Amino acid sequence: TVIHEDSNVASLFVANEIASLINEKQKLGKKTVIGLATGSTPTKVYEYLVKFHKEGKLSFKNVVTFNLDEYFPMEPSSIHSYVRFMNEHLFDHIDIEPDNIHIPDGTLKGEEVRQYCHDYEEKIQNVGGIDIQILGIGRTGHIGFNEPGSALNSKTRLIRLDRVTRLDAASDFFGEENVPRKAITMGVGTILSAKRIILMAWGEGKSPIIKEAVEGKIKESVPATFLQHHENCDFVLDDASASSL
Ligand code: GLP
Repeated sequence: TVIHEDSNVASLFVANEIASLINEKQKLGKKTVIGLATGSTPTKVYEYLVKFHKEGKLSFKNVVTFNLDEYFPMEPSSIHSYVRFMNEHLFDHIDIEPDNIHIPDGTLKGEEVRQYCHDYEEKIQNVGGIDIQILGIGRTGHIGFNEPGSALNSKTRLIRLDRVTRLDAASDFFGEENVPRKAITMGVGTILSAKRIILMAWGEGKSPIIKEAVEGKIKESVPATFLQHHENCDFVLDDASASSL
């Protein structure tokens, strides 16, 4: 666990790690595969990555990205979509190849989802797996949208969102009734197969779940506890989210 005074310093720390990895691999002529998260937590990391790019210190030409999740159903053009979120916060401002961007598709028909999720996993495998996965954490202890009850070896799939998660998203959607009931998410197993994982959390509101995730017994009812199994995973926290540790 790495604790910084505030989320700004912590985000710079994470952005530096990602940028160094991209630059190192680029020197070797290799691609970097990054697992990306949405939500308010990683936005400053994306700001820094955009800043490095604008300063000419970082190119995304050799970067492949896989986003953790997307609401279902969800149109990419919706203001609530994670496609829109990623474009606004990162992709519109960097030199990534559009073909190298992967975000679960919220527009599929029900019967197409299973094959799509299988293919999403295969695409991750085909590029050699995720080099670095960044994560936020939900109040339920979810990572991606792996809600309580998600299995250790779960893969990309359609899930039903927890009531607490839908309540937390209600203000963004102008009411709980507008929050989709489902989402497509990478599984816990997908996340754990990343070579490096960084979970970030800011603010006092996250401190109870951070305590459980870091110090609690490993259990399905708090999916973030599964990260304790990973040998190259850091929790990057600010003082407030670490205050119960
Ligand atoms: C959503 C996302 C998660 C994210 C969580 C926390 O549920 N699917 O990936 O970690 O929200 O959001 P925030 O970072 O805004 O606290």
